Amino acid sequence: MKTRVDEDTCIGCGLCEEVCPEVFEMEGDKAVVKVEVVPDGTADACRNAADQCPVTAITVE
Ligand code: F3S
Repeated sequence: MKTRVDEDTCIGCGLCEEVCPEVFEMEGDKAVVKVEVVPDGTADACRNAADQCPVTAITVE
């Protein structure tokens, strides 16, 4: 599973980093994905982060 953040859409709320810090981290006022592939144990948290992002900036594939 892979995920990405649309940096043009992200408003920097930081929720994704709170929900799934293994995958997302804040870089300035934007979130970035810090792993090439989402680790197995964090897939649910990653999906939760995508569901909860207020501007739907996170894509999971
Ligand atoms: Fe940005 Fe959404 Fe995360 S607004 S900081 S991608 S929760």
